[in-house]
Amino acid sequence: MKVLGIESSCDETGIAIYDSEAGLLGDALYSQVDMHTEYGGVVPELASRDHIRRVLPLIRDVMAQAEVSREEIDAIAYTRGPGLIGALMVGSAIAKSIAFTWDVPVIGVHHMEGHLLAPMLEEAPPEFPFVALLVSGGHTQLVSVEGIGQYKLLGESVDDAAGEAFDKTAMMLGLDYPGGPRVAALAEQGVSGRFRFPRPMTDRPGLDFSFSGLKTFTLNTVQQHTVDGQIDEQTRADIARAFEDAVVDTLTIKCRRALRESGMKRLVIAGGVSANKRLREKLGEMAAGENAALYYARPAFCTDNGAMIAYAGCQRLLAGERDAPGIRPMPRWPL
Ligand code: KG4
Ligand code: ZN
Repeated sequence: MKVLGIESSCDETGIAIYDSEAGLLGDALYSQVDMHTEYGGVVPELASRDHIRRVLPLIRDVMAQAEVSREEIDAIAYTRGPGLIGALMVGSAIAKSIAFTWDVPVIGVHHMEGHLLAPMLEEAPPEFPFVALLVSGGHTQLVSVEGIGQYKLLGESVDDAAGEAFDKTAMMLGLDYPGGPRVAALAEQGVSGRFRFPRPMTDRPGLDFSFSGLKTFTLNTVQQHTVDGQIDEQTRADIARAFEDAVVDTLTIKCRRALRESGMKRLVIAGGVSANKRLREKLGEMAAGENAALYYARPAFCTDNGAMIAYAGCQRLLAGERDAPGIRPMPRWPL
């Protein structure tokens, strides 16, 4: 089965073709970050307008690159939610219209299920069951995964997502949107241990997270070291380092706890923050100590992309699932 996948939940238009036999045949991404950078974050109305402009040319490009004709496409998958309503409407309307015209089935995919399954596109994918840490701009969740669609929430953030904390910290340090990779790059220049940030909610049982206090801690530290509106370069880097160390340690402690409590030996990390190098290193060391294996996607498939939607949609379609007619995006949608 060849599935055309369409991702448009936020600020990237992602298109891919996944074949259940041959694997990924082609994928392309158009990122709107340059457009949103001057506003310091995603402007929903501009995002929708840009998706509308990009989506059809990108579909044509991917079909050409994969040398797949429209007659060969067996089904369409699109991101139904969660995400920005206008952006989701573009993907939903385009997907449903193409499916209607080509007379093929169509399936709406949960964006976080897409992230969760993205490591399946790699060479040595994890087997079920596993524990998954989903860390994106909107979500921080620990999930027990028994199979496709068999997800049990073990814990989640009670306030900000980890990616959101990275983005807000970036803003406080005068870095552009999206902040995660920029904070990580600045942290490389920083000295570990000069500042000690808290590891929120690690001193009590449970698998929930909280990142909003860390944000306040960052803000206070930045303000304490700002003189005449200026902050010393090394201090900025040391703050970035202290922040990243705190997030990475917190996520690592909770992942170890989830592995021990579930008795599972496989840990999958997914979502934008799973591209973070230090997080991968720390979790790799922790997993080795627990006799467990760590899995993640290539960096381009950690952040938003069409391949994960084509893959997840394909699995759902193979299980016989189909969308009902009508276009109903889900801006809020629990996994
Ligand atoms: O999964 P994603 O692309 O979009 C959502 O579904 O939210 O995640 C985006 C988030 C942003 O908050 C971004 O700053 C963060 O992932 N991110 C990173 C890194 N790359 C992306 N955070 C830390 N380190 C990175 N290398
Ligand atoms: Zn995402």
